[in-house]
Amino acid sequence: MNKRILITGGAGFIGSHLADELLNEGYQVRVLDNLSEQVHGKDRKKPSYLNPKVELLVGDVRDKEAVEKALDGVHAVFHLAAMVGVGQSMYQIRDYTAVNNLGTATLLEALINHPVEKLVVASSMSIYGEGLYKDSNGNLEMECERELSDLKEDRWEMYKHGEELTPIATPEDKKPNLASVYALSKYDQERLSLITGKAYNIPTTALRFFNVYGTRQALSNPYTGVLAIFASRLLNDNAPMIFEDGLQKRDFIHVKDVARACRLAMEKSEANGEVLNIGSGNQYTITHIADKLAGVMGKDISPEITGKYRIGDIRHCFANTDKTKKILGFEPQMKFEDGLFELAEWLKGQIAIDNVGKASNELSSRGLTV
Ligand code: NAD
Ligand code: UD1
Repeated sequence: MNKRILITGGAGFIGSHLADELLNEGYQVRVLDNLSEQVHGKDRKKPSYLNPKVELLVGDVRDKEAVEKALDGVHAVFHLAAMVGVGQSMYQIRDYTAVNNLGTATLLEALINHPVEKLVVASSMSIYGEGLYKDSNGNLEMECERELSDLKEDRWEMYKHGEELTPIATPEDKKPNLASVYALSKYDQERLSLITGKAYNIPTTALRFFNVYGTRQALSNPYTGVLAIFASRLLNDNAPMIFEDGLQKRDFIHVKDVARACRLAMEKSEANGEVLNIGSGNQYTITHIADKLAGVMGKDISPEITGKYRIGDIRHCFANTDKTKKILGFEPQMKFEDGLFELAEWLKGQIAIDNVGKASNELSSRGLTV
């Protein structure tokens, strides 16, 4: 009998690819997902991309009974269910704390009575706040934060004593600096899981995903990742709207690589009790990805640089992947150009409702963009 694996949030973007990866490797997959409206639309239908071999249980991760039922006969758990928008988390504080923090607590309490061979929890690069920087003498700067007064004057980079700092790859031992409600909730998920896993002998691994991209990302969710938002704008012949000056850098990793890293984290006992960065190690500016995406989609539309700052946003962060390479033997395989091409092919068959204007108003009316 093949092992049965539970993925919470498994009907979403990353979870559905992880389901494919596990099924391909001979596991059985069960998903617990509440098919939330923001991700799955008003009808909250089972997504057509979800592998037909998945056993889907529609339920909420905060619902003790639903979680206990989902754990029945399960060997390992991936905890991916979460609300994922950094900007939105700054005003839907109650919902984010309920789903992300209480949801994780509910799962962990249930695991005490249904111990599993492995728990893998989706954490995030956002817990670092700013990535690691160095000054001109090579001194590392771990605790950088930008001043609102600088940002209001379009001074977007990181400064210390008037000197501009240089961003460098961020390793797992960089001290967390929680800059948004979302980041705080991801750190909470990570720590709660590791603490409880240790206490109850449930081998646990926390994976800090960097910016994940690929097919199946919720295009009509204006609070999703930047590439999906830009795709939705471009599909509707609107210009992507870029915060700051567009030169902020992120580390984009393809969702199929993330799915493979997740499986390896479950299978490798060396990962037990560890926190691992899941990134590509590459760094791209947001303007670069807007231009590249328009190019592969065949749209002659330049992005609009708004010069606005989204409260809670960080300037630069990209992964140091040494520890992950060593422990998981994992290296990403998808080249960014190939991943974008695949995304563009998928986008041809997609309809996206562009809700970005509405989301921008939500943020600005609350003073969350300046
Ligand atoms: P997603 O929104 O596509 O998927 C999340 C899934 O969780 C959705 O199917 C949603 O319906 C479900 N869900 C939400 N609330 C739920 C609840 N209360 N009960 C049950 N299910 C619920 O997001 P994703 O990008 O696939 O993210 C998956 C995980 O990875 C999240 O934990 C997220 O924080 C983390 N993560 C994502 C990224 C990224 O770049 N996409 C980066 C870092 C971390
Ligand atoms: C993202 C994920 C977060 C995840 C983290 C891990 C989302 C919503 N956020 O956060 O869940 O934990 O990666 O790496 O998926 N931007 C624009 N215009 C837009 C949208 C965004 O310029 O319309 C800019 C932002 O200001 C930011 C950058 O793009 O500088 C990336 O934004 P976003 O995709 O929201 O990602 P993160 O904040 O990095």
